[in-house]
Formats: sequence, C-alpha cells, structure tokens
Amino acid sequence: MLAACHNEPVTIIPNVRATDIYADRHRPQFHFSPQTGWMNDPNGLVFYEGEYHLFYQYYPDSTVWGPMHWAHAVSRDLVKWEHLPIALYPDSLGYIFSGSAVVDWKNTSGFGKNGQPPLVAMFTYHDMEAERAGNDTRESQAIAYSLDRGRTWVKYEGNPVIPNPGKVRDFRDPKLVWDEARSQWVTTLAVGQHAELWASPDFKTWKKLSEFGADLGNHEGVWECPDMFPIKVEGTGEQRWVILQNLNPGGPNGGSAVQYFVGDFDGKNFTVDPSFLPDVQGGKAVWLDHGKDNYAGVTWSDVPDGRRLTIGWMSNWQYAQQVPTLAWRSACTLPRVLTLRKTAVGYRLFSEPVKELEALRQQHKTLEPTTVHQLGANFELAPNLLDSISPAQMELVLDIEPSANARFSVELSNPKGEVYRIGYDAKANQFFSDRTKAGDHSFSPDFAKQPSVAPRISKDKTVRMHLFFDAASAELFADGGATVMTEVFFPGVRFNKLRLVAEGGEVKVVKGEAWGLGRIW
Ligand code: FRU
Repeated sequence: MLAACHNEPVTIIPNVRATDIYADRHRPQFHFSPQTGWMNDPNGLVFYEGEYHLFYQYYPDSTVWGPMHWAHAVSRDLVKWEHLPIALYPDSLGYIFSGSAVVDWKNTSGFGKNGQPPLVAMFTYHDMEAERAGNDTRESQAIAYSLDRGRTWVKYEGNPVIPNPGKVRDFRDPKLVWDEARSQWVTTLAVGQHAELWASPDFKTWKKLSEFGADLGNHEGVWECPDMFPIKVEGTGEQRWVILQNLNPGGPNGGSAVQYFVGDFDGKNFTVDPSFLPDVQGGKAVWLDHGKDNYAGVTWSDVPDGRRLTIGWMSNWQYAQQVPTLAWRSACTLPRVLTLRKTAVGYRLFSEPVKELEALRQQHKTLEPTTVHQLGANFELAPNLLDSISPAQMELVLDIEPSANARFSVELSNPKGEVYRIGYDAKANQFFSDRTKAGDHSFSPDFAKQPSVAPRISKDKTVRMHLFFDAASAELFADGGATVMTEVFFPGVRFNKLRLVAEGGEVKVVKGEAWGLGRIW
C-alpha cells in the first residue's frame, strides 16, 4: 500500500481566529504547542540537515484524543519551531501510534536514492476496528521513509514489518537505535508490562532478541514509549546503556511518568547494572521527572554534537483531555539534555534545559544575597525587584541555604488570589510543587489532590533551584538537574507577582538571578 503525499496547510479549527491562537491565557509562550487540536506523545525525534524534527501524536479535528496522525514541526535551534503539514495520516491498517525516526546513513533499507540517505520512521499501527470488535490482535509495527527532509513520507508496501504475535493487546511504540558494535538496527517495544528488543539489518525483517523488565521497576500501569540508547558516564570514558520506560499510571505523584534503568546491552540482552539493581527491585523505580506532567518523552536520534536530547509531553493521562485550554490541548516540556553521572546514590540521569534556551533571555536581574524570614514577617521580592520581568514568563536561578526545619517557596500569585508554590522542604529533604490553589482544577479530582513531592538526592549544602515559568507551567531543575519536576496549572489570569516565602525557619538566598523570557511565536 502506497501512501499519498499530503500537503494540506496546517489545520486551523473553524471559528478560531488566528490572532486568538496564541492569546489563550494558558498558552505557553516559549514551549512548543500545536496551534489547534489535540497533541500527545512526541514522535520521530531525529536531527537531519540542520533541523531538529518533532513529530507528535495528533488529532486535528478535536481537542480530545482521536484518530492518531503524526503532525510535524522543525526547529534549527530547539527554541523556535515551525509548524509543517501533517506527516502521516491514518489508513486502512489503522491509526498511526507513537514511534521514532532515524537517518539511514548507510542506506541499509535501500530506500535512499542517488547517494541521499533516507529518513526511516517506525511506528505502531493501531487497528481501531479490531479494538471495537474486542480483538486483542490490534497493534503491529510499520515503517515509512522520506527523501525530502521529512516533508513527505512513503509508507512501505510490506507493512507491517513486525506483525502482532497474536492477541498481544499492548504491543507498541518502537524506538530505533543503531547498534554500532553489532551493525544492526535495534528497536525497543513496549509490550504490556515489559519491553522487548528486536533487531534488523534493513528495517524490513526483524527478529526478537530478548525481553526486559517484567520483574523490575514499577508495574502499576502499562509500559509505553520505551527508549534504549548508549550514553557516556560523565567525566569518564565509560559507556552504559539506558532504558527510559514510560508508564501509565503508576507515576511517583500519580498517573503518567517516566522511569529508567541503567545497564548494558550486549547486542541481545539489556542487563541492569548490579549497582543500580537494588533501586529497581521489589516494585521500586527511579524516575526521570517527579512532577505530574512529563510523559512519553524519548530522545533525539542523530544529534551531531553527541548530546542525548529529550522532550516530553507536558501532561498526564489522568486529566490531559479535560484541561481548560481553548482550541488546543497540551504542550511539550522544554527540550533537555540528559547526562549520566555517578552520584553518592549510584548512577543517575541528570536533566538540564538545553543551552540554546538562553537565547530567550531578555530583562536580567541579579538578586542581592538576603535572608528570607519566616512567614508572617516574610520577605517579599518587591515588584520593583523584578522590574518588568513577568513571573508568567521567566527563568529564575536561586542558590539557597535553608535552616534545618525551613520550608522554602517561590510563590507566584495573581489578583484573583490564586497561588502557585514550588520549593524545598529541608525537614523532609524534598522538593514540592503545590498547585492546589493555583487556579482551575475543577476538571479533575486527580489534578490537585495534594502537592507533588520529589526527594532531593544531592548532599550539597547549597540547594540550587533552576526554574522556568511559562503561563501555565513550571519546570524545576534542582541541583544541576539531579531532581526534576514538571507541572502545569491553570490560573484565571496570568500570575503577575512573585515572592519568596519561608516557613519553619529562615532561608538564606546566597545567589539569585532572574530573566524575563521572550516568546517563540
Ligand atoms: C502514550 C500512548 C502510546 C501510544 C499513543 C497513542 O501516551 O498511549 O503508548 O502509542 O499514546 O496516542
């Protein structure tokens, strides 16, 4: 079956004026979001000829999940994104579920032409008719290729390339990686509650190598969107392999989340590193992000400078389809660079915002070292301290030294009296994000049941909080990326005030810097 090349302009939902598209008060101004329609997982993350590709699960005709397409955007700098026409449409084999893309440099697929390597995408077909008929044989893996920088795609006539083994209901989300040492393509699949590794010389014929994880990590939900990749241990010549394994539900603060495993891949099996094993046994898991809103994140292929870059879907299946945005639903997280480090508690992935985002910095403020006193006589960053920096669109770096029992918050508020707090509790040794009073949460009982928390793993005396606020989201990269939290919120009007608050004891702010950030649209 050959797919038609679709070149329609980007769909705009009728009755929404273009000028309103980015004016929705909940619209992030420097995060990627679709103009209209429904988005979930990032797909097909690949770098080629100067462009970072972001495909994503998309339903153009509604703001809730539906027949899945791969929509498309590209960026030259991971900051500004250009919307392109939809890349893959559902067809008679099914909806186009999540998957990945790579550059087939050696033309192992034979899809290349005149020395030009093809981009090859691998995705899941989800057969809705089979689902409606109650047939579990509904998901299979397929490929497509592009010879025009991802603008148009041809679906392979021999699809599916990995048929469903029979009645395996959850069999999806292939993530491709080139295994240099063995000269083979490997794809990692999510199969119910484990991951499977499959290998191919040419993307067309596949053999199953092994299974991973049935007895490791968290299994409170379905495993989805895995990603296995090699990565250097920071500051050493050693290489390890990592599996990111998305899970829904079962996250540390409820619902969807990303756990990961550090180990090795020998061309057949992925084995968890013995030092990491205790962290993922007996139902325990290590989480990439402790907030409720970073899901289905996987990493970019073929990034020329060797960075391991990732982006997630900034939502959670608990309430993604109910959030109060107007003509569109959900945004992506900021793009992040992952590094693997040996810490006092063993191997850990650190996440930091990509350096390229510094291009967004506008107004700059250095904060004087100060002491934040207990609530009551609390210290407030006076409005003039932030000048024209809007807390609805800013970056903040704080180095703090809390006293033993202090609970420290960065607090955003608005004239409606809505308040969002994100901070660190020294007594509990954990970070927290509290959106219980941050605006509308009537759409779901799971949205703001209680504050989300994340254990601090760094033992440094100084707690470093690197924060990004963008209209309806907060991202915390604490202690250089050792602990991460991503959460969204929906205030009735934008937050316009920021203060620092301490409870239970004093907190020294030893260093602080703030930037107003520009918009990308
Ligand atoms: C994860 C997921 C994937 C699936 C896709 C469907 O959010 O459920 O497993 O491929 O979304 O849109």
